[in-house]
Amino acid sequence: MERLYRKLPPDVEAAAHNDVLCLKCHAPLGIHQPELKNDAVGCEACHGSSEQWRTTHYLNDWKLLDAAGKAQRGMCNTKDLVGRVEMCAKCHVGAPGMEVDHDLIAAGHPRLFFDYAAYHEILPRHWKEREEASFPAKAWAVGRLTAAHAAMELLHHRAHDASRWPELSEFNCYSCHRRLPNEVSPPTNRTLGALGANEWNLALIDVLGVDPAPVNQALQGLASPAPKIAAAAGQLRDELANKIRTLSPQQFDRAWAKELAAKLMTKNDAITDWDTAAQHYLALSAMDRTLGSSKQRRATLNSLRDMLRFAPGKNSPGPFHPNQYLETLRQLSWEEPSARTEGSR
Ligand code: HEC
Ligand code: HEC
Ligand code: HEC
Ligand code: HEC
Repeated sequence: MERLYRKLPPDVEAAAHNDVLCLKCHAPLGIHQPELKNDAVGCEACHGSSEQWRTTHYLNDWKLLDAAGKAQRGMCNTKDLVGRVEMCAKCHVGAPGMEVDHDLIAAGHPRLFFDYAAYHEILPRHWKEREEASFPAKAWAVGRLTAAHAAMELLHHRAHDASRWPELSEFNCYSCHRRLPNEVSPPTNRTLGALGANEWNLALIDVLGVDPAPVNQALQGLASPAPKIAAAAGQLRDELANKIRTLSPQQFDRAWAKELAAKLMTKNDAITDWDTAAQHYLALSAMDRTLGSSKQRRATLNSLRDMLRFAPGKNSPGPFHPNQYLETLRQLSWEEPSARTEGSR
């Protein structure tokens, strides 16, 4: 991958472990302390450099500090959900100067498919569970908005730099790479032959009250003027920041999750390809974890998930058929599970 990406001649040895770009995400502490390269994504990648707190953070004086005091000494505030997702997003969505761009993807790097709620689920638990029952719904909503914000910051930055625009990974992959036979045709939210935005980080933010259409429209063609794209991205980024600032932690409760699940059942038109379907499934799945699953609902969700799975050994989606997804979706019921299943959460 390193050889292809850096276009190295055959007599030069590829050395991703010395490539600062790779290290920024894969072993950030290794950049300045080579002996820490093997730590890869170690504790300090998420909790902040411990130089100023390694020997004090278990003492009473430390425990009396508030989050701002700890942050001042280099410890990230992982307790704050927005701050936490911003921290993950730097590596899992990317940021200016920390990018998985189309060149890197074409050299073999997996595309980044970050969803905070889902990634939180598979992160090895090493903290005391103190999450409220509606945490998955909240993590989904805060995660989507915060990841979209990071993606718009990156798009804004890329479109500002005329020397490297167009950056192909900002466009919908399927508009250039073979459209699969049975996909919804023509895709409902894209004019055939036009490009449109890479939807992974923008899909479904409309159900959270933020409209991605202006950015999608600005990315209709490779020749769209970059300043127009940068302006649209900047505006959406600011709108998302505003939305995130005004979130109330209580708003994503059980009733909200139920309403959102119902809304998601009417989003058929939004499901045009693997990306949008996968985001849709992840949203349903977070609502299901919040509401307390029933056997039948879990079985239907599992069939949806199986349609989205990568083939063994692959790191990108295989053939996907939106019509089949939508057909199975119709079997999904959000009726209240029996009291027994609900009590088991
Ligand atoms: C913006 C941050 C970022 C940069 C820059 C980056 N990567 Fe990655 N890379 C990731 C993330 C995040 C994953 C995991 C993706 C996932 O599973 O969701 C990953 C996955 C990988 C994988 C697959 C690992 C596996 O277990 O399947 C390889 C190999 C890899 N990166 C190599 C590289 C190399 C080589 C470079 C430099 C040329 C590089 N990466 C630059 C973030 C980055
Ligand atoms: C410093 C960059 C960085 C930060 C910050 C970071 N990650 Fe990662 N993460 C990575 C890389 C790189 C990989 C891929 C590692 C590999 O496969 O070698 C990864 C892998 C993962 C995986 C495994 C993915 C898979 O495909 O199995 C999960 C889950 C994950 N990260 C969740 C998180 C969450 C949640 C946060 C925030 C709380 C976070 N990460 C913060 C860089 C980062
Ligand atoms: C991928 C990101 C990531 C990595 C890597 C990581 N953590 Fe965490 N850590 C978290 C998150 C997220 C939380 C949960 C914060 C919360 O709920 O308060 C957490 C919580 C904690 C807590 C607080 C526990 C509690 O119940 O209050 C400690 C202590 C901790 N981590 C130590 C470590 C150590 C030591 C390592 C390395 C072995 C490590 N972490 C690696 C993300 C990470
Ligand atoms: C505007 C058209 C366009 C878009 C959009 C686009 N690509 Fe590409 N892609 C190309 C072209 C042309 C090549 C071959 C030249 C190169 O390697 O850059 C290519 C090459 C690749 C390769 C290497 C294929 C091989 O056989 O070596 C991969 C993988 C890839 N693209 C993935 C993606 C992904 C994932 C996306 C979406 C994030 C995407 N592309 C978006 C045009 C595009």
